[in-house]
Amino acid sequence: MPARPYDTGLDAVATKRGIVSCKDPCMRILFIGDVVGRCGREAVAASLPKLREALRIELSVVNAENASHGFGLAPDMAAALFAAGADVITLGNHAWDRKEIIPYIAENPRLIRALNFPPGTPGAGSVVVEVAGGRRALVLQAMGRLFMDPLDCPFRATADLLSKYRLGGTVAAILAEIHAEASSEKMAYGHFLDGQASAVIGTHTHCPSADAQVLPGGTAFQSDAGMSGDYDSVIGMVKDAATMRFWRKMPGERLAPAEGEATICGVFIETDDATGLAKTIAPVRVGGRLAAAMPAG
Ligand SMILES: [Fe+2]
Ligand SMILES: [Fe+2]
Repeated sequence: MPARPYDTGLDAVATKRGIVSCKDPCMRILFIGDVVGRCGREAVAASLPKLREALRIELSVVNAENASHGFGLAPDMAAALFAAGADVITLGNHAWDRKEIIPYIAENPRLIRALNFPPGTPGAGSVVVEVAGGRRALVLQAMGRLFMDPLDCPFRATADLLSKYRLGGTVAAILAEIHAEASSEKMAYGHFLDGQASAVIGTHTHCPSADAQVLPGGTAFQSDAGMSGDYDSVIGMVKDAATMRFWRKMPGERLAPAEGEATICGVFIETDDATGLAKTIAPVRVGGRLAAAMPAG
């Protein structure tokens, strides 16, 4: 399929609005949910530089576990997302669907997989990246276990990792992604980390949730960022074949990603450098079928 131009009006946004002013030292973070298929990849590649400029983003994290035709991530696709401005790319339960990613992840520490895979799994479950001003940010991903393949405990694995860092001390920000099916497990994980992380953002269900909030202890939370793909679909896949699987309960056509115009779904977070905790969280939705959302100016 030929590449399509992707114009969401972000050029105008970037020039007309100095979106989000922050008087005190802070870090602006953009998390983008599961990139699905070619339309998702093209939309993110076209819009991420503009979103970074419009929102003055200092750290961007992109989940790309479904970038390769809905299943996995190929090395050239990861390189394209890094080139578009992703500081960190995360995976999920589809981490190894494209096996070429295994040697690539070993050589690219800014591509991470869930930290609660068994010991010896290629790659790492977290990375520390440097952002403007020499500040450091820890990005980690954990995978849930409810209605998912069994893995090591995501809570214990995260606690073990965080015991090595101090938010607002050794790292200015901590972004924890919880890749899980059940909202209950994600909310429990968010409260588990409340006060210890800047943000806990869920992925995997491919539908943006409307529960963005700063939890009482100061951690920004949204139980699912939503996917970056075509929403005229069943969670990003062509709707007819996906619907037939539920309706007929018979094997049918192989699932393929829907390739209409993508909606980029993400979350914007602003943290306080003094504490590393969140000041604001707001959904980001650009292009495609979903109602648009951008942080207030
Ligand atoms: Fe996904
Ligand atoms: Fe997933």
